[in-house]
Parts: sequence; structure tokens; C-alpha cells
Amino acid sequence: MSIRNLITNPPRLPLIAPSILSADFANLGRDCAASLEAGGDLLHLDVMDGHFVPNLTMGPELCRSLRIALPEAVLDVHLMVMDPAIYVKPFAEAGANHLTFHIEAMPEPERLASDIRKAGMTAGLALNPPTSLDTILPCIESFDLILIMSVNPGFSGQSFIESVLEKSVAIKARLRPDQRLEIDGGVNAQTVESCRDAGCDLLVAASAIFKSPDYNGAITMLRGEACPAR
Ligand code: DX5
Ligand code: ZN
Repeated sequence: MSIRNLITNPPRLPLIAPSILSADFANLGRDCAASLEAGGDLLHLDVMDGHFVPNLTMGPELCRSLRIALPEAVLDVHLMVMDPAIYVKPFAEAGANHLTFHIEAMPEPERLASDIRKAGMTAGLALNPPTSLDTILPCIESFDLILIMSVNPGFSGQSFIESVLEKSVAIKARLRPDQRLEIDGGVNAQTVESCRDAGCDLLVAASAIFKSPDYNGAITMLRGEACPAR
């Protein structure tokens, strides 16, 4: 299923996006495949340029390799870069299904949303914890999803910033049923219920899934479903 179908006509909610930043990079294909087999809906790729955030991670070539290894995977690319426009074509050509970029990097974001769609992908707009909701309100309708950052971006394994949930509730009230509200950072057994209660329906998790010995158990917990008796 393409991510456009997942967004507009999700088979079930919430969707779960394993963030591969906490996978074993020496065994990346294995870990990604296992997270999808365990029930992950899409793979979340955190692209960092060392400028927008103080970390360097992955680029289009890694996306291309995953597309080849996992032809059916839905690839959700989260750009934490200073100049997101230059990455639209490379990621489209590398097989990405979805691109999210940050309002802090592109204060007038509508045109880039349109370019992402023209390149065959869906478009998302992300908001860092300190950034005011007012910055994105005028352009919400141009996007397929809004991504609320619940940590300051850069690394997996950080603590959840609870104050962002107020923004989640406010954004959710303005979204159409075909738009998703994604949350990213510190989503785990302690915090996920408050995310779902705040209307988040696309949940990103890196350490909660990849640092668990039981990917299926972790994903089932994030969805809010009871673990089957063993
Ligand atoms: C943070 C990234 C997240 C990160 C989440 O900058 O955007 O996707 O991998 O990691 P956890 O789930 O461990 O907080
Ligand atoms: Zn992310």
C-alpha cells in the first residue's frame, strides 16, 4: 500500500513507524525487515545534515538500498536539514514514499509541499518543541501530515517533552480526516497513551522498538492493543 493510501485510507489507526535510527546499522536490512514483519506500518528514516541538527545520519543512497531490499516497504523520510528543497528529487528517485521537512528550515512551506507531490510523494510539515503553533496554522491544509517533535531533534533515546501535547490537541482539531498527526521523539510505554489521547495517529519510535528484544510486543504496546497471551 502506498503511503498516500495509508494516510487517506488507513487500514487501522494508529499507524506505527519504526525509526531506523536505533536499528543496528551493520544489519540494517535485517532489522528493517523484522520491524515490518512485527507489524510496523512504515519505516521512518531520519535524515540529518549536521547543521540543522548536531548529528549526521543517512542520505538518498541508503533510501535506495532499502527500496531495493524491501520493495513493498513504505518509506517515510524525515528531513532535518537546512535546505530541504535540494533533497526532493534525490529522495524521489531513491524510492521514498513520503517527505517531511521542518517549518524552521522553510518558513513559507506551501511551494515545497507542491514540489514534493509533483515528485510523486506525500508531504509532511514538522514543528520543533519550542516552535509556536502559529507558524504552521496558515498552511496546515497543504500537507498530508503534520509532525509534532516531542524531543529536540538530533538523537534517538531522548526524554519526551510533555508540553508539546497541548499543540497536538490544537492541531488535531484543525485536521481533516484524511490528514495524519505524527509524533516523534521519546514515544514509549510511559508516554504513548498520552500521545494517542492527544490525537496522534502516526507514532514514530526508535529505541522503544529497536532496543526491545520483542519488536512485535513493542509495536502492539504502542498501538494500545493488549499483548496476546503466550
Ligand atoms: C529524533 C528523530 C527521531 C528519533 C526518535 O531527532 O527524529 O525519529 O529517532 O527516537 P526515540 O524514539 O528513541 O526517541
Ligand atoms: Zn524522525
